[in-house]
Amino acid sequence: MPTYNELDNPKRLINELMRHLPDETFEVIFVDDSSDARSIEWLCALRETYPFVRVEHRTRERGLGSAVVRGFELSRGDVIAVMDADLQHPVGVLPEMMRALAAGYDVAIPSRFIPGGSDGGLSLPRKLVSFTARWMGRLALKRLRNVSDPTSGYFMVKRAVIDGVSLRPVGWKILIEILARGSYSRILEIPYAFEARALGESKMSLQEQWNYLRHLGRLILDSPEERRVYLFALVGTSGVLVNELLYDVLIHLQMALWTAGALSAFVAMGTNFVLNDRLTWVDARAGQAHRRFLKYVITSLFGIAQSTAVLSVLAYGERVNSLYANIAGIAVSMVWNFYINNFWTWKK
Ligand code: GDD
Ligand code: MN
Repeated sequence: MPTYNELDNPKRLINELMRHLPDETFEVIFVDDSSDARSIEWLCALRETYPFVRVEHRTRERGLGSAVVRGFELSRGDVIAVMDADLQHPVGVLPEMMRALAAGYDVAIPSRFIPGGSDGGLSLPRKLVSFTARWMGRLALKRLRNVSDPTSGYFMVKRAVIDGVSLRPVGWKILIEILARGSYSRILEIPYAFEARALGESKMSLQEQWNYLRHLGRLILDSPEERRVYLFALVGTSGVLVNELLYDVLIHLQMALWTAGALSAFVAMGTNFVLNDRLTWVDARAGQAHRRFLKYVITSLFGIAQSTAVLSVLAYGERVNSLYANIAGIAVSMVWNFYINNFWTWKK
């Protein structure tokens, strides 16, 4: 449990834990960054009273995510739960999470956003921030897509999920770090009601929201799978530039329009191929380069046929403005190109 100036909350939480888990063996590790003397003192008093309580007080480092990682390092159990120390995460869900792991799940995530759950403990502005963060995360990272509450600070994992994985969260959202980098196959979400904070206040800030964006960016860049679609889009854009530049040069050299158009398109296809081969699918290069190039060209030609077909159908009889129709065609062929290249040209 990460704690920062939580006053009396940890004590109340310990009482709750003993009430809900009377027969379990567990240790509680508080990784504390408090600046408030009373909070520190009360936490240390807990350690004196309860032998299963451990307190790590940090002075050099601060931050929720890194506190949790520190807790992982100190922990000794086969099963590790992370939760806030302010009682917003109801302790009553823990037994259900333990049953889920015993039944073979690797990760158990209490969720506010499946039937039976609620995020009632958040203010309206925080609900909006949380909603945006959740959707951005799920759009940005494939591995978050099937999780309804990836920004939760409440979850339980088997140790094997994080064993040997180097976790480097930026800021708060340690769960997305684990979902993106951890080794797991089965996740269970359990509905719960996020409670209102009884004592003290939230430490969420604009800085943390910015950290979240940096965190997403880092996770995308670090994973060949996650970054592929972004690199593909970037390479595609570079192809448009190459195409236009060359076209302009050739026209100035008095070349016929259609020859200039075809030549620049073909050169752009070549630079796109090289960049995709070296960047987008750099981890998936197998066999000879010229075979990949051939597949790439075939895929692209089908792509062009599709975009032309979509364009003609939509723009037929001026039903749709031809510029929009062209955009629609380009979109269709981009999706096609990405998937066929992914599963054929650069098949792993
Ligand atoms: N060690 C340490 N260092 N702990 C911290 C720090 C820090 O810099 N900042 C916050 N904490 C601790 C708090 O003491 C609390 O136990 C927990 O982390 C959550 O902080 P809150 O300030 O209460 O966050 P929140 O209630 O706004 O949001 C929480 O709940 C959301 C819903 O699950 C967070 O866990 C969010 O990540 C989560 O989305
Ligand atoms: Mn809280």
